[in-house]
Amino acid sequence: MNRLEGKVAMVTGGGRGIGKGICEVLAREGASLVVADIDLANAEQTAADAREVGRKAIAVRCDVTSAESAAAAVEAAAQAFGRLDILVNNAGVVGLHVGGTLVDADDWDMCYEVNLKGIWQMSRAVVPHFRANGAGKIVNIASIAGRKGGAGLAHYSASKAGAISLTQSLATELGPLNINVNAVCPGLLWTDMWRQLEAMIGREPSDEVVDRRRVFEAFLAANCPLRREQTPEDIGHAVAFLASEDARNITGQALNVDGGIEMN
Ligand SMILES: NC(=O)c1ccc[n+]([C@@H]2O[C@H](COP(=O)([O-])OP(=O)(O)OC[C@H]3O[C@@H](n4cnc5c(N)ncnc54)[C@H](O)[C@@H]3O)[C@@H](O)[C@H]2O)c1
Repeated sequence: MNRLEGKVAMVTGGGRGIGKGICEVLAREGASLVVADIDLANAEQTAADAREVGRKAIAVRCDVTSAESAAAAVEAAAQAFGRLDILVNNAGVVGLHVGGTLVDADDWDMCYEVNLKGIWQMSRAVVPHFRANGAGKIVNIASIAGRKGGAGLAHYSASKAGAISLTQSLATELGPLNINVNAVCPGLLWTDMWRQLEAMIGREPSDEVVDRRRVFEAFLAANCPLRREQTPEDIGHAVAFLASEDARNITGQALNVDGGIEMN
């Protein structure tokens, strides 16, 4: 399908993992891409991959925690393409430590700054462009961790619950401007981020990839009705739908893409 033909999409954290998968699906759907990441080398690679399949794509270095950086990235996108139609707020972090009251203040601040304030900051920067277009789509990558609290991940869960709430607030405020704002809540994906999570379910990180993988699979077997992991492409499909006109009357929603781990 070419549901996003003629549209320009900016994806934060598009340099690797889920963000890269989202970029690949959006490019397949016809979108031109602005790959925004704090890691410019990875962003350049994602953009190069999109150009390889015939799409227009640029990479920009962007730190979503900085108002100046967010504004500069959006400006670079507008300069390159003359318009911006879709913002995917995917950049996220999980922090470095484990435990509700045991995490240090740096972990708490980092999750808040990137996972929550980053969404607000990027959204603020794109709204003038969406207003000029008379339309826009924002898709926020939250998490099933934001659906309910749990041991070890208090700071991350709270930031993701905040992202779902922020999605609803922005949808309410921006709806009259014909801007749809939705969230996708991924479940379990075998990315660099999940490898960090291993320590948070009570096991020491291991250098052996096979051990990490076993922990991941055990968690899936115990918690996922469909008994299979999700992929960056799965998340990309949900994002493409929400960013398309097929979802024109959907706003303020959070869609779990998690094999049934959470059903609310
Ligand atoms: N992996 C999972 O199982 C999982 C589950 C649920 C939700 N998520 C969410 O999906 C999103 C992507 O996760 P992932 O697994 O691909 O993680 P990842 O760590 O592999 O990738 C995160 C990307 O965000 C970028 N980034 C980090 N801080 C940034 C900043 N300040 N500004 C701009 N870019 C920044 C990184 O450079 C990286 O490219 C995150 O929001 C994460 O919370 C992941």
